[in-house]
Formats: sequence, C-alpha cells, structure tokens
Amino acid sequence: MGIKTDAIHAGQEPDPTTGAVTIPIYQTSTYVQEGIGKHKGFEYARTQNPTRMALEKNMAVLEGGVAGYAFASGMAATTALTQLLLKHGDHAICSDNVYGGTFRLFDKIVRHYGIDFTYVNTSNLADLAKAMRPNTRMVFIETPTNPIMSITDIRGVCDIAHKSDCRVVVDNTFMSPYFQRPISLGADIVVHSTTKYLNGHSDSVGGVVVLNRKDDADRLQFIQNAAGAILSPFDSWLVLRGIKTLPIRMEAHNSNGMAVANYLAAKQQVKKLYYPGLPTHPGHALAKQQMSGFGGMISFDLGSLDRAKEFLPRVKLCSLGESLGGVETLISHPATMTHASVPPDERNRLGITDGLVRLSVGIEDVEDLIADLEQAF
Ligand SMILES: Cc1ncc(COP(=O)(O)O)c(C=O)c1O
Repeated sequence: MGIKTDAIHAGQEPDPTTGAVTIPIYQTSTYVQEGIGKHKGFEYARTQNPTRMALEKNMAVLEGGVAGYAFASGMAATTALTQLLLKHGDHAICSDNVYGGTFRLFDKIVRHYGIDFTYVNTSNLADLAKAMRPNTRMVFIETPTNPIMSITDIRGVCDIAHKSDCRVVVDNTFMSPYFQRPISLGADIVVHSTTKYLNGHSDSVGGVVVLNRKDDADRLQFIQNAAGAILSPFDSWLVLRGIKTLPIRMEAHNSNGMAVANYLAAKQQVKKLYYPGLPTHPGHALAKQQMSGFGGMISFDLGSLDRAKEFLPRVKLCSLGESLGGVETLISHPATMTHASVPPDERNRLGITDGLVRLSVGIEDVEDLIADLEQAF
C-alpha cells in the first residue's frame, strides 16, 4: 500500500472484541489465563500489550523493516540499541553532530562499559572509512544532523560499514519515514524519537526502533522485555493517532519550511542559514536524492549570543522551547538548550555557535510565521 494508506491502516485492524475502528488503549498490567500455559498470547503487559504492538507493527511497515519495538523515550530506544549491538571491548562510530543527548548517553554512560566511541563527520565518507576498526560493531548516524542539517550519504555509509560485521543505525527523527526510509537505502536499524514528527502534537514522549534483520529483532524484543523501558499504552495510542496524519503534516511542514527558509535567506541579519532544501546548502544534491522532502527544521546564525538573546524573547507566535516536530512552531537556542551537554570548543567546531537559533517550523499559516519573525528582527 501507499504510505498514506499504511499510516492509517497498517497494524490497526478493527478491535476483534467490539469492532472498534480505533485500536483501544489496553490499560491493563496483566491478563487472565485459562489454565497453566493456556492463554491468548498475552501474559503480562511489559511483554505484550495490544496497543503498543499495533504501533510497533505500524512502524515496521512504514520503515520497511521486519519488526519494530516501542520504548519510553527516544533515548530509551537508543539505550536498548547499545544493549543490542555493543559489548565490552567493542568500538562504535557516531556522527559528530548528533542530538546532544545521544552524545551524552554514549560519552557519559555507555563508554564506561568498556566500549570505545569515535566521533566523525560522517558526511565525509573518507573520514568514516578511516575510523573503521576490526572491532567496529555500530555506525550511528543522524541525517540531517541536529541542528546544522548536514547530510550523510546513507547508502555510502552502508557500503563502508557492511564490509565487516557492523550494523548501521540511522536516527530518522528529523525526516520521519514519510521523507526518508533508511532501510531501503541499506541501513540495518532505524531509531526515532516518536516525541517529534511521528506523534506530532507535542503531547507524548516516546521512541521506536525498527530493524531489518530477524535475529536483531528477536534479540531487541528480548531486551525490551528484560530491561523494561516500554512505551505506555496511552502514549502508544497517542503516537498511533499522530501517525494517521503524518503524511499531510509532513507536507505542510515541508512547504512552510521552504517558505520560511526562503524568507530567512534574504535577511541581512542572518549570517548563516542551514536548510537542506536550499540549493546553497552543501548537502542539497544528496538530500534530493535520498529524501523525498526537506522537512521543517531550519537553523540560522544571528552572529552573536547578544543578538540571539535579543531576538528570542521578541517572537510571539513561535514558542521558545526544546523539542521539535509538533504542529506548533518552536524556536530554540541549541548552545544553551539541546546541545548544552556538548563542550563549548566542540560546539564551536561543529558550527553550534552562541548565535545559532533553531526553528521547528509548524503547520500554522506561513504568512503569520513570517510576520512574527519579521517583527522580531
Ligand atoms: C534527533 C533526535 N534523536 C533523539 C532524541 C531523543 O528523544 P527523546 O527526547 O524522545 O528521548 C531527540 C530529542 O530531541 C532528537 O532530536
């Protein structure tokens, strides 16, 4: 089926008990069993929950994998992946420009289990090839990156990583399966913060992993149950409801994103602008090839912390806040918010300067968004 049909129907057959067209919120911790070893396939809700399983099936179809598993947050999903792929003595490679919390997890927690990480600019495939070691078991990329929007060639990364026993993981949070399907480009595993575009309404925190290998999927299911960081039934239901409108929301984010990027490109106060939909973006050609839209994430540099501090309190319609991917436009200051855990020198090297502002362009009337930015300038 097409993705608009799958978004609404995949994994979501009418409820067998009542015919309810929407999958119910199965708010239960356990299930009555008929006798010892005799039950309907449901024993305990950490292990199986019909609402969560509907979301997991839906996401497996949308990303084109063999199975999906939903977690309590995007970070819980990434944590489970490290438990799946890495053990003491292994090496992993990560894009040097990932979400700050991903870096914090790898550097401040996973590294302490005797796992070595190298951070490379994965948009340069030669740098990636040089960083590979015989014990590299995971290459973790985010494309476009947060917040600089640089693009990594997913197929190129897979060609390099798959020369050895190494999995490629793509954080697809910024694009969603509507605009980018990493498994179709060769990736083994896709991870999402469902908190963002998938749920889309800024009212739930969650994560999901979709896998392309049956052995990995079975092991991750074991980890999900054994470590226990599951998504709640209510959050699973919210994300499922959000996904039904994902295609139309993504189209709206994309067209508003393009319009706002074009507006910002003409502003003399904007010293640098990062949006992969603009032909001036260094990754534009690659983005056009591996993505079917550019989304609603834009970063721009106002030149100094003082200018950012002046600008941010003046916006009225755009709300100042962390997170992204909701229907409402959010504006943030990566250096002090999402990327505060990245050391200042490293931030400057990556272009996450004190003057950088990030916009998650929502689906409001774009004229109103531009008018709000204009009065703030
Ligand atoms: C690209 C990306 N990946 C992962 C995460 C982590 O997700 P969560 O906040 O749901 O734990 C975020 C959160 O901002 C993100 O932007």
